Amino acid sequence: MLTLLSNIKSLLQIRTIEETRVLGLDMKFLPQIENAYLILEDGKIHSYGSMSELPMLQINETIDASGRMVLPTWIDAHTHLVFAASREQEFVDRINGLSYAEIAAKGGGILNSAAKLATATEEELYVQAARRLDQLILLGTGAIEIKSGYGLSVESELKMLRVIQKLKEDYPHIPIKSSFLAAHAFPLIYRENHQAYIDIIINEMLPLVAAEELADYMDVFCEEGFFSVAETEQLLEAGWKYGLKPKIHANQLHRSGGVQVGVKHKAVSVDHLESMGEEEIASLRGSNTIPTLLPGAAFFLGMHYQPARLLIEANLPVCLASDYNPGTCPSGNMNTLLTIACTQLKMTPEEAINAQTINAAAAMELESVMGSITVGKKASLILTKPIPSVAYLPYAFGENLIERVII
Ligand code: NIG
Ligand code: FE
Repeated sequence: MLTLLSNIKSLLQIRTIEETRVLGLDMKFLPQIENAYLILEDGKIHSYGSMSELPMLQINETIDASGRMVLPTWIDAHTHLVFAASREQEFVDRINGLSYAEIAAKGGGILNSAAKLATATEEELYVQAARRLDQLILLGTGAIEIKSGYGLSVESELKMLRVIQKLKEDYPHIPIKSSFLAAHAFPLIYRENHQAYIDIIINEMLPLVAAEELADYMDVFCEEGFFSVAETEQLLEAGWKYGLKPKIHANQLHRSGGVQVGVKHKAVSVDHLESMGEEEIASLRGSNTIPTLLPGAAFFLGMHYQPARLLIEANLPVCLASDYNPGTCPSGNMNTLLTIACTQLKMTPEEAINAQTINAAAAMELESVMGSITVGKKASLILTKPIPSVAYLPYAFGENLIERVII
């Protein structure tokens, strides 16, 4: 069964299979073919090229893409898609002057979400999460990482991870990776006895998570007021014993040492990075760890943005992800994220698209199957409406420029 997309105005993000991530200044190039064709076979990319070289093949279906662009779907490498309730009251509290840290210290924030999640059933959580995922797919997201972390007890963490597991089963064409984030906050009863909660994570939760194969990665919120560097190290070492690679929250509110500890423990990515200095950048330079920026959270909290330009100048493979969660970024819209990256992080449209496709695939270890237009990769594609240029995508913010998502 062959499907042809013909007369594509620009086919974006053409890469060879050897190109697994794009570094630094190379991010400003988005390889493309004008007036292109793209042929799909059994859910994969069969071939592509210039319309003038369209091969004679038995085509089953043709989609005319005149005036339209085609690019790989967005890959969202950091979300908290499973949650029980929205938190707009905290949003209003922040407008009235409280900070994110102050709200968290009063038992709001993550603990607020944990209290709501504790009383929700697995089924209720699944229905809500699936509804959110359906919306994201329409907005062009074709792969997603989802974290636990609103459970904070053996029972509730497993409940969240089982919801993610069911999403994996029910959405076989949307690659999903799950991260175990019990180390997201200390439950109130462990505020004065951190080690007791860490012991529960390591000795009770991890063996069960591993036995049911419920997680791909180990996550920790390494931050002042949350998990210290020493606590993070203990947890990452414990995760590695079960083969869980780290993918952690680092340097959101402070220069917490999270980047260095992530790099030291061979994290696939360190995420957030609002608070960065030369040491953090130097540590990333000597590593394979991907810096994943979550500017949606900085936007929504009204905080300072990530230093994307410094990371790009340091020749790093910058990734952008949504951080979709009810507290710091209640949106998983990667189209809006593109605009925030351009206007606030001063990334060019091409850099931002590389960060949301090929580098995001690498941040989820999906680089061999997604993230670019490459023969053999999954045919997960965005077909735009007629648009004048690539830059129009982040420029015309708020307008839905997606005509069709092909998964
Ligand atoms: O990535 N910063 C830590 N975790 C989430 C927010 C969690 C919450 O407030 O519910 C984040 O921003
Ligand atoms: Fe997050």
